[in-house]
Amino acid sequence: MRENSGNVWSPLQRNLGFGHGSGQFGHFREVIWRPFMKLSARSYGLYALFLLLLVGAFVCTRMLDYPTIFAGSASSAEKLSTSKSQIYPQKTQTIPLNCNAINHTGTCPRDYPTTPKNDPDNRPSPGTCPDYFRWIHEDLRPWAHTGITRDAIERAKKTANFRLVIVNGKAYVETFEKSFQTRDVFTLWGILQLLRRYPGKLPDLEMMFDCVDWPVIKSTDYNGPDSPVPPPLFRYCGNDDSLDLVFPDWSFWGWIETNIKPWEALSKDLKEGNKRLNWMEREPYAYWKGNPIVAETRQDLLKCNVSENQDWNARLYAQDWGREVQEGYKKSNLASQCIHRYKIYIEGSAWSVSEKYILACDSVTLIVTPHYYDFFTRGLMPMQHYWPVKEDDKCKSIKFSVNWGNNHKKKAIAIGKAASDFIQEELKMDYVYDYMFHLLNQYSKLLKFKPTIPQKATELCSETMACQAEGLQKKFMMDSLVTSPAETSPCTLPPPYDPPSLNAVLRRKENSMRKVELWEKNYWDNHSKQ
Ligand SMILES: *[C@@H]1O[C@H](CO)[C@@H](O)[C@H](O)[C@H]1NC(C)=O
Ligand SMILES: *[C@@H]1O[C@H](CO)[C@@H](O)[C@H](O)[C@H]1NC(C)=O
Ligand SMILES: *[C@@H]1O[C@H](CO)[C@@H](O)[C@H](O)[C@H]1NC(C)=O
Repeated sequence: MRENSGNVWSPLQRNLGFGHGSGQFGHFREVIWRPFMKLSARSYGLYALFLLLLVGAFVCTRMLDYPTIFAGSASSAEKLSTSKSQIYPQKTQTIPLNCNAINHTGTCPRDYPTTPKNDPDNRPSPGTCPDYFRWIHEDLRPWAHTGITRDAIERAKKTANFRLVIVNGKAYVETFEKSFQTRDVFTLWGILQLLRRYPGKLPDLEMMFDCVDWPVIKSTDYNGPDSPVPPPLFRYCGNDDSLDLVFPDWSFWGWIETNIKPWEALSKDLKEGNKRLNWMEREPYAYWKGNPIVAETRQDLLKCNVSENQDWNARLYAQDWGREVQEGYKKSNLASQCIHRYKIYIEGSAWSVSEKYILACDSVTLIVTPHYYDFFTRGLMPMQHYWPVKEDDKCKSIKFSVNWGNNHKKKAIAIGKAASDFIQEELKMDYVYDYMFHLLNQYSKLLKFKPTIPQKATELCSETMACQAEGLQKKFMMDSLVTSPAETSPCTLPPPYDPPSLNAVLRRKENSMRKVELWEKNYWDNHSKQ
C-alpha cells in the first residue's frame, strides 16, 4: 500500500503549489515580464514606478537581515552599499535563514550563493579523509563499469521514501511515502546543510532514498552474467549480502522522538561527560540500556543480567521510552551514561544509532557480533577500538571480556580511549559532511544521464523546512543550521583499496576476532577444570 502523504514539512509550499520546475527564469517571465507586455503606454510609467518600489522594498527587507551578518566587521557599512559579491565576501560570508521570502511568496530565497565568487579550490584542504572513506569506492563498485542509468534508478523506487534531485545547487524532492518518525525530514535537512556548507560544489544528481532499517538490494539477484544492473538505493545501513549505499543517518541532525540532540552539540556533551569519572573510578561491569523488544538477540542479552545466583559482570536495563517521555528524559541523558568501565553495543532490528554514543565513552565497548554496518563502522578494528563479544554465547563472552579488562587495565583503557578518539576526531561533523560530499560526488560521476527537475518534485531549501517548524524540531534545525560555507575544501578522498590491501584489512580484523575467541575458550576451559 503506498499512500501519497505529500510534503509534510512544508504545508505552505504544498498549498501554493510552487516549485514545479518553472525555474528561476520561468518565474521571472510569469511574474514580471508578462504584465509588462500587456501594458498600454500610459500605465507603462505606473508599472515602472511599481517595480521600482518593489525593488526598493525588497532591498530594505534584505538589509534588515544584514546587521547580524556583519556584526564585528568594521567595514560593513561600505560593503552594504556596493555590489553583491561584496555583500558575500569570502571570509565573513554568511547564509542567514531568510524566512521573509518563504513567508511572503512561498518560494525559496533566490540569493543563495550557489557558485562562490572566490575560487573554492583555493581554500585550504584539511588533508586526507579518514580511512573509512575508502569504502565509498567499494560501495559504488557494482556500477563502476556499467554506470547508473535512469532505468536503474527507477527500479530503486519500489521501496524508496523519496527521490532527491540536485540541479544547479538546488534541491528538489519527490516524496513517495512518509518515513517512520522524522527520519526523512532530518535526512533531507542534512543534505540541505551540506549544500549550504559547500555552495556550488555539489554536482547535479538524482538519488532514491529508503529510510527503513534493513537493506533490500540483495547481491545474489545481481551477480549472474545476465543480471540487470542493480538499482542504486541509499539508506542508513548495509550488510555483506546487499548492495544498498550507506549514508549518514538522521540522528546527526537530531532525533526529536527520543530527545537526542544534533551530533555537533551532543558529541561535545559526551566529551565533557567522559571527564566526570576516569576509567579506574567507573563501575567494573558491562552496562547496557536499550529497547529489548525490537530484537530477539536483545532479549537473549537480558538473560545475562545480574541476579541473586549469577553474576555475568553485566548490568542491563530496559529503556521504557513511554516513561522517559513523561519524566522528561531524565534517565536517558547520554552524557551521564559513561559511568561503567564497559558498555555493550548490540544491534536492534538492524544497525543502531546508539553505536556512536556508546563508543564515545572512554569505556571499553563490547560489541556483540554485528550483522550490519553503517558508513563509519567499517573503520573500527576489534581489540583496537572495541572488544568483540560472541553472539551465540553472550553471557560467558561478557564475563570473560570484563575479567580480561579488569586484569589488563592499561590495555583496556587504551581501547576505550581509541574508540572515543575515533568518534571525536574521525566522526566529527566536518567529516560527516565530507563523507556525504564524496559519496554523492563519486555517485554523480556514474550517472549516464543529465539530471533534470522532475515534474512532481518540489524545491526544498532550509527555509521551507525550518521557518514553519515548531518545538523541538525547530530547535534542532536551528541548532544544526549551517550558517556559512566551509572555510576549507572537503578533505581529500583516499584512493580505493587494491585487492591485497583490502584483504589485509579484512584478515587483520578476522585474526583479532580469532585471537579473542581463543583466549575466551582457554579461559572457560581452565575455569571448568577448577
Ligand atoms: C514566518 O512564519 C513563521 C510561522 O508562521 C513565523 O514564526 C516567523 O516569525 C515568520 N518569519 C518572518 C521573517 O516573517
Ligand atoms: C537487571 O538487574 C538489575 C539489578 O538487579 C535491575 O535493577 C534491572 O532492572 C534488571 N534489568 C532488567 C532488564 O530486568
Ligand atoms: C588457561 O590454559 C591455557 C592452556 O592450558 C594457558 O595457556 C593459559 O595461560 C591459562 N590461563 C588463562 C587465564 O587463560
